[in-house]
Amino acid sequence: SLLVPCVKELVAQQPATVPHRYVRPEVHLLSISSSSDAASKFQVPVIDMHRCIPRSPWIQSWRSCTMHAKTGDFSSFLVKKMKKEIQEFFNLPMEEKKKYWQQEGDMEGFGQAFVVSEEQKLDWGDMFYMLTLPARLRKPIYCQSFLFHSGSLFLSLPIDTVEAYSSELEKLATKILGLIAKVLRIDPNYMRDLFEGGFQAMRMNYYPPCPQPDLVIGLSAHSDAVALTILLQVNEMEGLQIKKDGNWVPIKPLPNAFIINIGDILEILTNGIYRSIEHRATVNSDKERLSIATFYNPRLDGKWDQPQAS
Ligand code: SIN
Ligand code: FE2
Repeated sequence: SLLVPCVKELVAQQPATVPHRYVRPEVHLLSISSSSDAASKFQVPVIDMHRCIPRSPWIQSWRSCTMHAKTGDFSSFLVKKMKKEIQEFFNLPMEEKKKYWQQEGDMEGFGQAFVVSEEQKLDWGDMFYMLTLPARLRKPIYCQSFLFHSGSLFLSLPIDTVEAYSSELEKLATKILGLIAKVLRIDPNYMRDLFEGGFQAMRMNYYPPCPQPDLVIGLSAHSDAVALTILLQVNEMEGLQIKKDGNWVPIKPLPNAFIINIGDILEILTNGIYRSIEHRATVNSDKERLSIATFYNPRLDGKWDQPQAS
């Protein structure tokens, strides 16, 4: 990526209008307002992961795109801790955040993803992106939780919490992929082998409030180029929209649930039976919004043997 300004810093200067690089009113065409009839009729399937039995009707019927997975409360403490510490991480002084700023040409760190030209329009949001699994590929700077700075000790990336969250979410992803394998009558070992030792990355998103929210977009429309995404809405602010039948439909955050999105790789892997979903994030004028996307990919090192045809 090319280096971009920090939007949180920009907002701290209390601009009355939005700088031109962020202005793109055209993106709001085809948006369905969250108070409209169409939006209230639209229901995202909900699956309770505790009661989820193989051949669950929810998994059977969930073919398109997005669902909510209720976590029960086994990890609610961890989820709360993760939310709190990531919020604090974005609130660190710029001096601290700079230590984690993206290097040109690299996506990891604070900044924005996929910025390839100086003319390109920018999103109204900051992100922090890091590879979490396999652990051996983690950058050394993301493995330490304390840094010395001008004689004092600063707590920065909450790595212990990120690690615990990362391994819980790996389990959840494995469970969901196992259920999909069952529904599709794929050998569960085949699915497991494909994802064992696979790649996991996290993208923490911070969308500051915007003086002209209808002129900007928090995160441009895209589908995730991964297998599965588990999205945590940190502070239950609305903003996520999915493209359904040609319209942008808002997804209301559901407490104690993750959003599960199918990505491009799972669409390819299932020959299009499960469909990758186009989505984006909008912003608002009164309050910041945070989300944490955890991505799953099969092993990318090619060391994988085709199962024997039976
Ligand atoms: C994402 O697509 O990475 C996150 C969207 C959101 O903030 O809800
Ligand atoms: Fe996404």
